[in-house]
Amino acid sequence: TAKVNEQNHLEIGGCDVPTLVEQFQSPLYILDEATLRAACRQYRDAFQRHYPGESLVIYASKAWNCLAVCALIASEGLGIDVVSGGELFTALQAGVSPAQTYFHGNNKSAAELELAITSGATVVVDNWSELHLLVDLAQAGIYSPDVITATEQPSIRILLRLTPGIECHTHDYIRTGSIDSKFGFDPEQLESVFAFVRDHAVLNCVGLHAHIGSQIFEVQPHHDLAGVLVDWMVKATEYGLPIQEIDVGGGLGIRYTESDDPPSIEAWVQVVCEAMVNACNERGVALPRLISEPGRSLIGSACVTAYTVGSDKTIPSLNKTYVTVDGGMSDNPRPITYQSLYRAVVANRMHEAMTETVTVAGKHCESGDIVIPSAQLPKTTSGDVLVVMATGAYNYSMASNYNRLPRPAAVLVHQGEANIILQRETYDDLLRQDRLPHRLQSEQN
Ligand code: LLP
Repeated sequence: TAKVNEQNHLEIGGCDVPTLVEQFQSPLYILDEATLRAACRQYRDAFQRHYPGESLVIYASKAWNCLAVCALIASEGLGIDVVSGGELFTALQAGVSPAQTYFHGNNKSAAELELAITSGATVVVDNWSELHLLVDLAQAGIYSPDVITATEQPSIRILLRLTPGIECHTHDYIRTGSIDSKFGFDPEQLESVFAFVRDHAVLNCVGLHAHIGSQIFEVQPHHDLAGVLVDWMVKATEYGLPIQEIDVGGGLGIRYTESDDPPSIEAWVQVVCEAMVNACNERGVALPRLISEPGRSLIGSACVTAYTVGSDKTIPSLNKTYVTVDGGMSDNPRPITYQSLYRAVVANRMHEAMTETVTVAGKHCESGDIVIPSAQLPKTTSGDVLVVMATGAYNYSMASNYNRLPRPAAVLVHQGEANIILQRETYDDLLRQDRLPHRLQSEQN
C-alpha cells in the first residue's frame, strides 16, 4: 500500500516516508504490514481454492527472520521454515507453533538438532551423516514430543530432502535442484535411504521434500517437480514409510524492475496444485498434505529501504554521475553478490520528472558497492530520501557490519502507525563482543 500523498511524498502504510526518515534516521527498512499479510492470504486462499487435500504454507524465514516477522506470519496461520539454531530460536521465541516448524540445513549440528527435536519441530533430513546423527541422538533419548509423532514408540519426526534433478533459469548461486547440488539425497541413493529409515523405527519419516531454486519465473519446473516427488512418494510407501506430506519448496520470483514479469502467487499455486493432483491420480495414490515454502514472494515486495542521499560525483569524459547513499552492500548485499537489479524513487520528489540517469552507489570502501548501476531519477541533491523498492527478502537477513556500519533499524508500518521492529545498532553494539586482551591495553586505559 504505497501512494503519493498531498505533499508529493511517497507514503507507505499510511506513513510519510521522509517523515519516517526524520524520525528513525536512515538507512531504514520500512515493512508494510498490509502487503505482507495480503501475500500470506493469497497463498493460503489459492491453496484452498486449488487443492482438494490438506495444505500448509510455511514461510522460508531465511528471507527475513526476526521476532516481529515470525509473529506476524504465524498470526496469518502460516508455518515457518528455519535453517539454523538461531532462526529456530527466534521463531520459537516469537511463539510460532513447533508443529508447524520445519528445520532445514545441510550441516545441522547435534545441538541444533536437539533443540529442533525436543521443541517439536520436524527435521528435514538432508544427508547420510544427518541420518546417522539422528539415530545416535535417539539412542541418547532425544525424541520428538509424542503430541506430534503419535507413533507407538518414541521417534523423531522427519522429512527426507531429495535432489530432484530439475534445471531452472536463475542465478547459479541460488539454483539448488540440479544433480550437482550440495543439498539433499542423490536420487540414485534414495532406495537405500528408504531402507535405512524403514530399519530404524526411531525415524518417523512422514514426507519428502525438494527445492529447486529461487527467483524463478517459469512454472514448468515446479510442475515437473510434483511428478518427481509423487514417484518417490510411491517408492517410499513401498518401503513401508508412512508418507503423508509432500513439500515442494519455494522459489517463486518477484518483480524487482519494470522488465521482470513473474507469475502471480495464484498462478504459481494453481500449477503446483494441479500438477500434484494429476500426478497422484495418474499413479492412483491418495493426495498428500501439500506443503510449500515461499520466502521471497511472501516478504520481498512488502519492504523498501530508505536512504539519505549524500555526495555525488560526475565524470565528464564518461558522461556519468554517481549519487551516493548512506548504506549499501552491508544492508543489501544482493547487487554485489548476484548482480541483482533494483528500482528506486526519490520519496520527497515524487512529482518531478525522471530526467537523470545515474549510478546509485553505496558508501562502502569497495568499487563494487553499487546499489543500482543505472537508475532513472529526478535530479537529486544531498538530503533527499532515496527509496529502493522490494527489499524485503534477503536484505536484512544477509546484512553485515562491513566497514563497521551499524545495521539499520526496521519499522513496521500500518494505517499511519510506525513501530520499530529492529532497533538501529549503535557503536556500543559494534563493540559488544569485542574483547581487548590485557597486554594490548594501553597504559592510559
Ligand atoms: N526452501 C528451501 C529449502 C530453500 O533453500 C529456499 C531458499 C526457500 C525454500 C525459499 O526460496 P524463495 O521462495 O525465497 O525463493 N540469498 C538469495 C536467495 C537464496 C535462497 C536460498 N534458499 C537471494 O538473495 O536471492
